[in-house]
Amino acid sequence: MDNFLETKNGKLVLDKKIGSGCVRDCYSIKNKEELCVKISKTNLSFLRKLQSMLFRNQINIEEYKIYTNLPNEIKMYFNPVLEAEKKYVLTNIPQNYDGSYSKSVKDSWPLSNEKFWKEVEKIYYYLDKYKIWFLDVFNGNNMFVKKENETDWIPIIIDYKRIGWKSFPGQIHLLLKSEREKKFKRRYERFVNKYKIK
Ligand SMILES: Nc1ncnc2c1ncn2[C@@H]1O[C@H](COP(=O)(O)OP(=O)(O)O)[C@@H](O)[C@H]1O
Ligand SMILES: [Mg+2]
Repeated sequence: MDNFLETKNGKLVLDKKIGSGCVRDCYSIKNKEELCVKISKTNLSFLRKLQSMLFRNQINIEEYKIYTNLPNEIKMYFNPVLEAEKKYVLTNIPQNYDGSYSKSVKDSWPLSNEKFWKEVEKIYYYLDKYKIWFLDVFNGNNMFVKKENETDWIPIIIDYKRIGWKSFPGQIHLLLKSEREKKFKRRYERFVNKYKIK
């Protein structure tokens, strides 16, 4: 892979790999500490490649569209997509009040911050209200903990593209709305049970 990327925001020089998910790797950018770029992997397993070719060929662009259509009540909890093309997404790296980088929920466990969990509940409430049943946001890797000050911590979702049947094409039952709703709710409950310390 080249270590630079031509974007609408100019030529970006990729620095370190700062994370890796099922379908994308995430890189910091030289001289732009607040930004990162998520690049679609090319070395996917056969099944993932097939899934991506058939159903999720445009996930980066889909993530951008999802961002622009989020309900106002909860948009602030989603890390903005600044630019998206077929192969990449340019986005922010969430930062805390002291300038340090925010960490994922998984890396912040145990998590007992009261405000944080109240805001998570709010996200769940509105996503359910508007029937936006994401299947990947209540997830320890995809949600970060942004510290606004010592006591006020808020969730920031950095990956939000799994929505609808196509994100799990092997699970035919997800063609049913009721099943998608059930899975969304189950994921939320599992997430809270796993990471919330009372
Ligand atoms: N905005 C971001 N700031 C910091 N780290 C990020 C950001 N976006 C992604 N990452 C890191 O890269 C990993 C992979 O990115 P993600 O968008 O979750 O890819 P995938 O779609 O493959 O799950 C994340 O789990 C996280 O560790
Ligand atoms: Mg992810």
